[in-house]
Amino acid sequence: MEGYMTLQDIDQVVEAIRGRTAHKPRIGLILGSGLGAVADMVEKPDIIPTASLPLWPRSTVLGHQGRLLLGSLAGHEVMVLQGRTHYYEGYSMSQVTLPVRVMKRLGVEYLIVTNAAGAIDPSFSPGDLMLITDHIGLISMTGLNPLIGPNIDEFGVRFPDMSQAYDRQLMAVTREVAAEKNILLREGVYTCLSGPSFETPADLRFLHGVGSSAVGMSTVPEVIVARHAGMRVLGISGISNKANLDGNTVTTHEEVLQAGDVIAPKMKALILGVLSKIN
Ligand code: HPA
Repeated sequence: MEGYMTLQDIDQVVEAIRGRTAHKPRIGLILGSGLGAVADMVEKPDIIPTASLPLWPRSTVLGHQGRLLLGSLAGHEVMVLQGRTHYYEGYSMSQVTLPVRVMKRLGVEYLIVTNAAGAIDPSFSPGDLMLITDHIGLISMTGLNPLIGPNIDEFGVRFPDMSQAYDRQLMAVTREVAAEKNILLREGVYTCLSGPSFETPADLRFLHGVGSSAVGMSTVPEVIVARHAGMRVLGISGISNKANLDGNTVTTHEEVLQAGDVIAPKMKALILGVLSKIN
């Protein structure tokens, strides 16, 4: 069927990566807008520009570099996607989530997803980190579910459960690390919209009303695909701006990227701490 990545497509990418690195990653990391610096922690990485891989959707957004790094981190073999792609760039959901399926075929068991998000919870401030405890898949509820299309049984079942999309044990470890390192860690529900326009005040009041703590344009498709394939997921948002519920402030991509500079060091410390506690 057109537009869907088949298992053969996915494995073609997997083989291309295997030809360029000897690392066998068990942990996958996806870095959100302005958070690319988190990849600096990876030791002795093999760096693969994603533009050199077959079928890989190109990252077209400023602040997303479009590289894969395979190396080690806190004693684990990791694979880091520095620069994801988003649905609003014009790719299919199947393309947007290709990296997760490639990770799975390479042996990744744990997926750590990060993003930049706008705060809907009024107690959050730009620069905060938020542990994603659950998500509202507004984008997937309304028909853009990445699992639409032929089910690939090698990954998972047709109707996968999403009752614990975010791994409770990983959340507990993350809270522990944040407390030890004195990092303020907010918690809440992340909502994914397609973007690329930011929300109107009425959109934001709606999201607030249905229980969203933060809003962004990514993560949910990747998490759905990861859970379908039985991966354990940890999600962390970097709060880049306050959502503009009253319509009196303006949101820009520049402020999202700038907040990344404040968030990245804390994100690094948190992720490093979590990885050192995973066996
Ligand atoms: N809205 C949607 N996506 C975002 C925002 C926002 O305010 N900030 C960062 N990503």
